[in-house]
Amino acid sequence: MITKSIRAIALLVIASTITGCSSVSEQEQNAVSGTSDAETIYKQKCVSCHAIDLQGRVGPNLQKVGAKYTQEELLGIMSKGKGGMPSFEKRLSEEQIDALAVWLASKR
Ligand code: HEC
Repeated sequence: MITKSIRAIALLVIASTITGCSSVSEQEQNAVSGTSDAETIYKQKCVSCHAIDLQGRVGPNLQKVGAKYTQEELLGIMSKGKGGMPSFEKRLSEEQIDALAVWLASKR
């Protein structure tokens, strides 16, 4: 009797964990179109050239980029592109570019 109800509770916990997980992965799939979280966007759009820790690869190191450019300048670089840096004005929303500019401006 007791073991049965424990088993029932365990099943419920497992079931809710599984459904919880699947909704997280759905969120991740829609991350870029839906989110304006700078780090999430960075991971999807910028990591390939600037590396996960902002250290740089094809693109330059961004760890102190906030000391080099103002938030507006960063916004301009991302919207219009610069040299080998692609333009993101068609690939990200204004809100998303804004969020990235605020985030990068704090890297100093
Ligand atoms: C295809 C590779 C590539 C991708 C993707 C890319 N960048 Fe760049 N980025 C570059 C290159 C190359 C430069 C150097 C441009 C130059 O000065 O000629 C650069 C320069 C920059 C600069 C100016 C750095 C400096 O010190 O002058 C910023 C800021 C920047 N990128 C941010 C981003 C952000 C934010 C993203 C994602 C939305 C991103 N980049 C995606 C290649 C890339």
